[in-house]
Amino acid sequence: MSGIKYPRAKPYISQHSKEEILDRFTKILDTGNLIQGKYVKELEDKFAAFVGTKYAVATNSCTSALEIVIKSLNITNKKILVPSQTFVATGNAVILSGNTPVFVDMNKDTFSMSFKSIQENISKDVAAIMLVHMGGLISPEYYEIKSYCDKHNIILLEDAAHAHGSKINNLSAGNLGEAGCFSFYPTKLMTTGEGGMITTNNKELADKARLYRNHGGDGRNFTYNSSNYRMTELNAAIGLSQLEELPSFIEARNTIAKAYIKGLQNVKNIILLPTYDFIENSYWNFYFILNKEVSRKKFTNYLLEKGIQTGDAYSPSCHQQTAFENYIGDQDFSVTEDILQRHVSLPMYVGMTKEDTAYIINTINSL
Ligand SMILES: Cc1ncc(COP(=O)(O)O)c(C=O)c1O
Repeated sequence: MSGIKYPRAKPYISQHSKEEILDRFTKILDTGNLIQGKYVKELEDKFAAFVGTKYAVATNSCTSALEIVIKSLNITNKKILVPSQTFVATGNAVILSGNTPVFVDMNKDTFSMSFKSIQENISKDVAAIMLVHMGGLISPEYYEIKSYCDKHNIILLEDAAHAHGSKINNLSAGNLGEAGCFSFYPTKLMTTGEGGMITTNNKELADKARLYRNHGGDGRNFTYNSSNYRMTELNAAIGLSQLEELPSFIEARNTIAKAYIKGLQNVKNIILLPTYDFIENSYWNFYFILNKEVSRKKFTNYLLEKGIQTGDAYSPSCHQQTAFENYIGDQDFSVTEDILQRHVSLPMYVGMTKEDTAYIINTINSL
């Protein structure tokens, strides 16, 4: 193997941002105000404006944001539907908030949980549904899922860890249900190092979330049992620069995705995911599916030999993880299991050039 020339993901911080961040770091260190000061507040205000919600509450990770949202909504001893095809954090947050995850199957066209699997797994104990916008794609089934939730009094929540800036009919991820949770992990669409954000239009939820992230209180009076989930000023200082450049990052990712779609649409044995006029995808990931006769292992090993690192969505999926073995019943995971064997995620990061994408496309075409 000649070494990885094209990693599947990497963070991007522009030279201008680096200078701005270092300048803010100096100011923070000079004041000695290292946590939850003016930069965290500024990031919250600007992120809320970006998503279009009234409130945003910063946390130290998306995982803690998910846990805090569920607790702030007083959901306890209930079931929450979660896709099996997601990072373990989604399921763990449900358990850590005192609830039971019910893992469900995915839709092969969207990589999100399918409306069919939701209907199959609903019961009177289900208090909420956690939609995960996999790779940045908001499922077009969102409308059916939302009406279903409204009709049956089920709370719709979003794990928008992959979906900063994604939109459906101009409505942003994070503003599609009762609350959205974002991740600022290094390889995400924007980073703060580690960090997360809750977005909501529900004032009571936002107020409670601010307490939950701070040991359950305001510093003197403590109402809830909680932990320390605060964001530091240093993390927020990075986030502000990243947020300012986020629209250009999303544009860059869309340019790469368009090139992949154009270059791969006629390749034998590759099935691209459908795109939709009314959905803007921020393309955290670019997934496609291989025909059944192709060996995924051979395909990805070949690309690796050529310096191209591919990824997968989440393999093994949650229902295959030991950590969740006590939470798996007789659900049907046939789509997830089929797609796990056949999907591929291509390199996707800001800074990839036209030549880089052309090399990747040509390498795949030469197979
Ligand atoms: C779908 C999903 N949810 C939640 C998380 C957790 O995010 P964090 O690392 O910020 O806790 C991740 C992280 O990769 C994720 O992919």
